[in-house]
Amino acid sequence: MPLLVDPDRVVSAHATPNQLLGKDVRMKVGFVGLGRIGLMHVNNLAANAATCGVSGIVLFDDLRDRADRAAEETGAVKTSAVSSLAALLGSVDAVVIATPTPSHPALLQQCAEAGVPTLCEKPVASDLSTMRRVVDMVESHSTPVVVGFQRRFDPSLRAIKSKIVKGELGDIYIVRSNAYDDLPAPAEIIRASDGIYRDLMIHDLDAVPWLVDQPVVEVASWGSVLADPIYAETGDVDFAAVTLRFASGTLALMAAGRRNPAGYDHRIEVLASKDSVIQGLGARTPIRSFEPDGYAFPDKPFSGFADRFRAAYIAEITEFVHIAAGRAPNPSPVRDSLVSIQLAEACDASRRSGSAVAIEPASA
Ligand SMILES: NC(=O)c1ccc[n+]([C@@H]2O[C@H](COP(=O)([O-])OP(=O)(O)OC[C@H]3O[C@@H](n4cnc5c(N)ncnc54)[C@H](O)[C@@H]3O)[C@@H](O)[C@H]2O)c1
Repeated sequence: MPLLVDPDRVVSAHATPNQLLGKDVRMKVGFVGLGRIGLMHVNNLAANAATCGVSGIVLFDDLRDRADRAAEETGAVKTSAVSSLAALLGSVDAVVIATPTPSHPALLQQCAEAGVPTLCEKPVASDLSTMRRVVDMVESHSTPVVVGFQRRFDPSLRAIKSKIVKGELGDIYIVRSNAYDDLPAPAEIIRASDGIYRDLMIHDLDAVPWLVDQPVVEVASWGSVLADPIYAETGDVDFAAVTLRFASGTLALMAAGRRNPAGYDHRIEVLASKDSVIQGLGARTPIRSFEPDGYAFPDKPFSGFADRFRAAYIAEITEFVHIAAGRAPNPSPVRDSLVSIQLAEACDASRRSGSAVAIEPASA
């Protein structure tokens, strides 16, 4: 991949430290897929382009109108639309893939072969055997691939992770997580989704083992259709509970749901030998306390994932630019996705069989 191709364009990930420190280092970032999450990433990057050295954004969607409309509406940085992936890859220094999950492996391969650093939305693949192939393919190229698990970029969860790494929490006894959507996604997205474990719980199936930093040895899960019968049409559920047992005996209890009348609610709580800490319990957490001196229900509860994880998504997209330019380490490498997809498959198997599932190491 050429360096400093045009005046608006960066340096690639392979730039030397001097180029990266130089004042003229500017990047063009491409986006593939401009639906719910793709447009959010575009807007977050456009609003923060100046601070991370981005001089241009290039957009591609199978629906050309979407790319044209988004290019017109994106302010703050020069934005254009192109009509093919090849045109996009030929004109950018980094790419964000935000298309539906089944398209990720092939798109990632094209980005890796073009030598363009990539942020790929989660999950990178829908099953463990495809994930293994993608990990091998990505690692056979030297181009960084960051997986869009935004919890790894969330300031509060990062603070907890840092305490764990420094030994400040001591031994972890039990982790509890909950991920409750406020409202289900539109019907067409539900029908195309890979189910609650691969679509929604995959975030916590990534984040909880990442926090605990030990292998999971056993998984059990239950699920029910309780609020929206549409989930039964595809054999999916809209509420699920998962238990993980880690190698040391540490336990995790995880809950997820597709509908919460109080608002969008995600929390992770860690009880350990030196402290008990929580991420996600704050002034906008939508839960009612019935204690006389309890927490007051917020005026503005979180309205959805983009609202709840706003700081995490901004950190993710701006840090991605630094990773692509070789200025920062990758906190969400594609190899780590082997764990979450293996656990998602095990959850599915456990829910269907009614039995716990033993986990073997998921090496590629
Ligand atoms: N990290 C998160 O919190 C989060 C949240 C929502 C979705 N996601 C993930 O993001 C991905 C996209 O989800 P979404 O809800 O934004 O989907 P969406 O259906 O709203 O948007 C997808 C877009 O991609 C376009 N597209 C489809 N195939 C394409 C291709 N081959 N080339 C170019 N454009 C193509 C579609 O026209 C559409 O505009 C999924 O993998 C999903 O799991 C992640």
